[in-house]
Amino acid sequence: MLPLMQHLNLRLPTILAPMAGGISTPELVAAVSNAGGLGSLGAAYLTPAQIREAGAAVQRLTRRPFAVNLFAPQPNVTPTASEVERAAAELAPFHASLGLHPPELTAQADPDFGLQLEAVLEVRPAVLSFTFGRLEAQHLEALKSLGILTVGTATGLEEAQQLETDGIDAIVLQGGAAGGHRGGWLEDELADTLTLTRAAAKSIRVPLIAAGGLMNAADVRAVLDAGASLAQCGTAFLRATEAGTSAPYRAALAAAKTGDTVLTRAFSGRTARGLRNAVTEGVQQPLPYPLQNALTRSMRAAGAKAGRADVLSLWAGEGVAHGRAGTAAEILESLWN
Ligand SMILES: Cc1cc2nc3c(=O)[nH]c(=O)nc-3n(C[C@H](O)[C@H](O)[C@H](O)COP(=O)(O)O)c2cc1C
Repeated sequence: MLPLMQHLNLRLPTILAPMAGGISTPELVAAVSNAGGLGSLGAAYLTPAQIREAGAAVQRLTRRPFAVNLFAPQPNVTPTASEVERAAAELAPFHASLGLHPPELTAQADPDFGLQLEAVLEVRPAVLSFTFGRLEAQHLEALKSLGILTVGTATGLEEAQQLETDGIDAIVLQGGAAGGHRGGWLEDELADTLTLTRAAAKSIRVPLIAAGGLMNAADVRAVLDAGASLAQCGTAFLRATEAGTSAPYRAALAAAKTGDTVLTRAFSGRTARGLRNAVTEGVQQPLPYPLQNALTRSMRAAGAKAGRADVLSLWAGEGVAHGRAGTAAEILESLWN
């Protein structure tokens, strides 16, 4: 295969991180691809119909390559009734403050991965990236047969080696500074992005994509010098004009200082990095992912409408204080020139 950047016909060595939950809008994805980077659509929470719709929306806005991102299927978990009660009780005061009934775990099923993947195959993006685990061989084969590049996420060397063994085309190395969910499945050492990139470059043969805390051109240059083919940036784009970031989230990001992020399971049940707030401080016994995510859904939706940053998942990386507002194209240029 040609080097990744040439293969994808990129002008700039930067990927817009997929950001599920409505942040990586089709407008943001297309703006980054049109400006010479690789836009990624965070599709993990979308139904198959929504994936087709969002994919078509991107394709109306750009003819350049883009990626679609999904969460690898997770094992089923069944909590006890008392675990559910405890988790709901912790959230009840936040619900009350928004005028909502206490949360209940409804039987709403998670999106079916196989059906999501079918929709992605129809959209036929240049890249399917995934996080939270490995994909089955049959799924990788289906993607490869259509010429769709496969990109997995590793938080450490052992995970990167497993992905390489699976035969995927490139690996995102997610350092500990990264905003959003931790993408790994083995023990997470929260490695420094640069250190992890250097170590992986010595032993891994497939192209590497470094992620976590990359906020300016010097950061991007450093990971490329360390052996990465591309850089993946999320937090840097959260305040982009085209992003779906809500108003209270934007205000919290603009006010954030270095040291304001924490790792928390409070919102989804899976460890993620975001700005500290009342929920990250108040919730001690969340249910496992994806159940806690379902339990906090109505709170997050009502909080966004009410302008209440104290009840929102404010995912952000350790570099958050170096973020800026502007168009996606301006932010993308600032990550290289
Ligand atoms: C708001 C937000 C949402 C994210 N959602 C996803 C996602 O859906 N899929 C994924 O693979 N990574 C997701 N990530 C993680 C990014 O892929 C990437 O690892 C991270 O943004 C890099 O660190 P940075 O935020 O410091 O740039 C998300 C990150 C953020 C900030």
